[in-house]
Amino acid sequence: MRVLVTGGAGYVGSVSVERLLEAGHEVVVIDDLSTGHREAVPGLASLEIGSYGDAEKLGRLLERARVDAILHCGARSLVGESVREPARYFRDNVAGGLVLLDEARQAGVNRIVFSSTAAVYGAPAMTPIPETAPLAPINPYGETKRGFEGALRFYGEAYGLRSISLRYFNVAGASEQNGELHVPETHLIPNVLRAAETGEPLTLFGDDYPTPDGTCIRDYIHVRDLADAHLLALEATGSPPSDATPPAVALNLGIGRGFSVREVVEAAEAVVGRSIPTTMGPRRAGDPPALVAAVDRARGELGWAAKRATLDEMIGSAWEWRRRNLDPATGARLPA
Ligand code: UFG
Repeated sequence: MRVLVTGGAGYVGSVSVERLLEAGHEVVVIDDLSTGHREAVPGLASLEIGSYGDAEKLGRLLERARVDAILHCGARSLVGESVREPARYFRDNVAGGLVLLDEARQAGVNRIVFSSTAAVYGAPAMTPIPETAPLAPINPYGETKRGFEGALRFYGEAYGLRSISLRYFNVAGASEQNGELHVPETHLIPNVLRAAETGEPLTLFGDDYPTPDGTCIRDYIHVRDLADAHLLALEATGSPPSDATPPAVALNLGIGRGFSVREVVEAAEAVVGRSIPTTMGPRRAGDPPALVAAVDRARGELGWAAKRATLDEMIGSAWEWRRRNLDPATGARLPA
């Protein structure tokens, strides 16, 4: 199939593009490079620089590219930034996303896989979290993802749009070519590895949570497992909906078990072969104590299961990628 990938120069997007190409599909990327990296787009994919929210540009691209399906990874995706600048999140993730849906309808593209997030659940009462848990985001980022999921559901009923929303838990690790590089970086694993590189202590955000070691628990998933799920989901949107499968489906993507912040630091120490300095800070606003996915639905719908479900594989691949691609002094990407 021929697939348009929004945000294909970003972390998850680029690894998904690699996977699609490897499976023999054709890929067109649209990315405004505001957070993505041009070097992350594999040479076999074509890159259009611009926003999926730019109706004219996207309309022309869809007319030209004649894609069968869309993988919508492009978004603003930092929780803290979303609290400070909600307007940017609603504009890009919701208003921009609706432009994408309108242009897709115009072009007759009725298959879409959407990068959603565990943040749609907020601070859930139960864990592991099933997809049927109430959607109650506690920050603008999660709210914008929930809003777009809602559009997909109703567009499915009214216009026959076939969609799968993938609710990612904590994405980690790297492929050979692509890994995680955000500026500024807020995520745990890259920050732990940065502390290993610089010797500057990592701040742990609180150890007074109601968890066994007092630090927060998260369900980490390897970005290559996520890419496998994207491929399967895109293929699944090619089958017509049935009584058992409604036009819009939402699936959790995690491994179904959680690791604490301290366990992540210990696993990283084993990978890098030395101790990593840490310092204890206060809780970070909006951090729920534990988020672990119920993963049966993704298994049932897609026949997918995580294959690289150890911290060693996730942190090990991230460390290898950093060593090959980042300048240890500055943390910036080395020229290709
Ligand atoms: N943490 C630290 N120190 C750091 C960075 C993180 O202690 O320097 C802790 C956090 O407090 C949290 C855990 O490590 O307890 C994981 O934090 P991340 O920032 O790596 O990830 P989050 O769980 O906050 O967020 C992730 C995704 C979001 C998504 C959310 C859904 O990055 O996009 O999961 O729950 F919305």
